[in-house]
Amino acid sequence: YLSVKKEKMSTPVKKVPIHLQSSQNRLLIKNGTVVNEEDVTEEDIYIEDGIIKQMGNNLIIPGGTRVIDARGKYILPGGIDPHTHLDFEFMGTRTVDNFYSGTKAAIAGGTTMIIDFVFPKKGESLLDAYYEYRQKADGKACCDYAFHVCLSHWSEQVKRDMEILTKEHGVNSFKMFMAYDFMLNDSELYSAFEQCQNLGAIAQVHAENGSIIAKNAQRLLARGITGPEGHEMSRPEEVEAEAVNRACVIAKQVNCPLYVVHVMSKSATEALYSHSGSTKVFGETLAAALGTDGSHYRHECFQHSAGHVLSPPLRPDPSTPLALMNYLAQDVLQLIGSDNCTFNKAQKEMGKNNFTKIPNGVNGLEDRMSVVWEKGVQTGIISPSRFVAITSTNAAKIFNLYPRKGCIAVGSDADIVIWNAGATRTISAQTHHQAVDFNIFEGMTCHGVAEYVIVSGRVCLDDGQLRVVEGYGHFVDTPVFAPFVYNPDEMDSLKPIKINDVNDFDLMEKTHKIKLV
Ligand code: URP
Ligand code: ZN
Ligand code: ZN
Ligand code: ZN
Repeated sequence: YLSVKKEKMSTPVKKVPIHLQSSQNRLLIKNGTVVNEEDVTEEDIYIEDGIIKQMGNNLIIPGGTRVIDARGKYILPGGIDPHTHLDFEFMGTRTVDNFYSGTKAAIAGGTTMIIDFVFPKKGESLLDAYYEYRQKADGKACCDYAFHVCLSHWSEQVKRDMEILTKEHGVNSFKMFMAYDFMLNDSELYSAFEQCQNLGAIAQVHAENGSIIAKNAQRLLARGITGPEGHEMSRPEEVEAEAVNRACVIAKQVNCPLYVVHVMSKSATEALYSHSGSTKVFGETLAAALGTDGSHYRHECFQHSAGHVLSPPLRPDPSTPLALMNYLAQDVLQLIGSDNCTFNKAQKEMGKNNFTKIPNGVNGLEDRMSVVWEKGVQTGIISPSRFVAITSTNAAKIFNLYPRKGCIAVGSDADIVIWNAGATRTISAQTHHQAVDFNIFEGMTCHGVAEYVIVSGRVCLDDGQLRVVEGYGHFVDTPVFAPFVYNPDEMDSLKPIKINDVNDFDLMEKTHKIKLV
């Protein structure tokens, strides 16, 4: 093979029309350590047409193939961020990161797919909202994306729309809120969970007791506590834990699998875990919850303290981040999102005199992978394989994208990160790729740097150089009745195959349940 350097110089990346690049780029990644959820191997990976076509040693590949030498580096499945809010109108304003800036930043950090939330305004039809979000993302996103759909109210129409979304629009998850003024009451949650179960979808829940929060907030404001510290004081841990418990109890009545988004505290995790023996429950925590904490709400600078406001809030208990990391290690929690929902200083200032008006949300889409590596792998709490599980594989399994996504295997999409665990970078709003003017991880030095990020076979981060293409990503259907959620016994047959002979496409299609292009 040509040496990497020479090959790099001779690859006419700029001259090839963008729409042809993915199909024309043949790529061989050599000498790396391939990390999957279940094993770590030394194998080369050959990619063509956006798909992993061969894996093994001494592969026979066509001439003219670009070679990337990954010696000494890990080769990871691209990150899947199961929780983002891009181009989101919320609390009277709109997030600064949209589907272009957000996915561009995602790729810079090693994430190659996002699952964002369609958010209907109160009373708006789910289908109209879905089409709006498709318009926001289609032609803009630089990597693949899927959608969860939020229920901002409950009605028979909502119930019908859920069915249409699952049957015709590739949606398999719905988020219900137990806080905010669009929260559902227990009987509405019951009906919504019941419908999720009927359809083979996953019920997601924002678990905080909204009624208690509203009363607490009134009392705090009346006492003159108007700053960001009031945000956390109005929503203490038990208010989260109570809602987690209640959601699990309701889900159990109708035998509905439940996914609790943004689990932020020890007591909420314990509440969730107490139901894991009798109900199918999944817990997601956030990069924010591992990489920072609630002490920042008492910072004297408003931009700094308000910059950390999200719901549920970061916890003042300093043992929380480490405890959550340990829960991820022990499979008490299964995955890690960013809940990326970014607002600039001027937007956060809408709540200057009243913490209830601070737009809720923080960054994390770009830095999630590095923060988890630093807090989890670098500290020795989790292995590289567990890192892959919680940042990619489990999201792919739960949302029925596996094994097309979430693993490095023959037949899977070539969404791949070449990860240098020996390199470090220091996170800063000055250098990040997101549009937002603040970073909750400011100054944090992380081991683990994405050096190459391959998105559907295209090298979009090339030796540290970001070369994304607006609109390169596609919407990906998430089919209902995910085997991992609804029929775990079937998972064995989905295990990635280990063969070098890729000519047997019949076998691959059968094994992977996907159509090869
Ligand atoms: O504060 C947050 N989490 N903002 C985004 C909306 C949500 O509840 O996920
Ligand atoms: Zn939420
Ligand atoms: Zn601080
Ligand atoms: Zn969110």
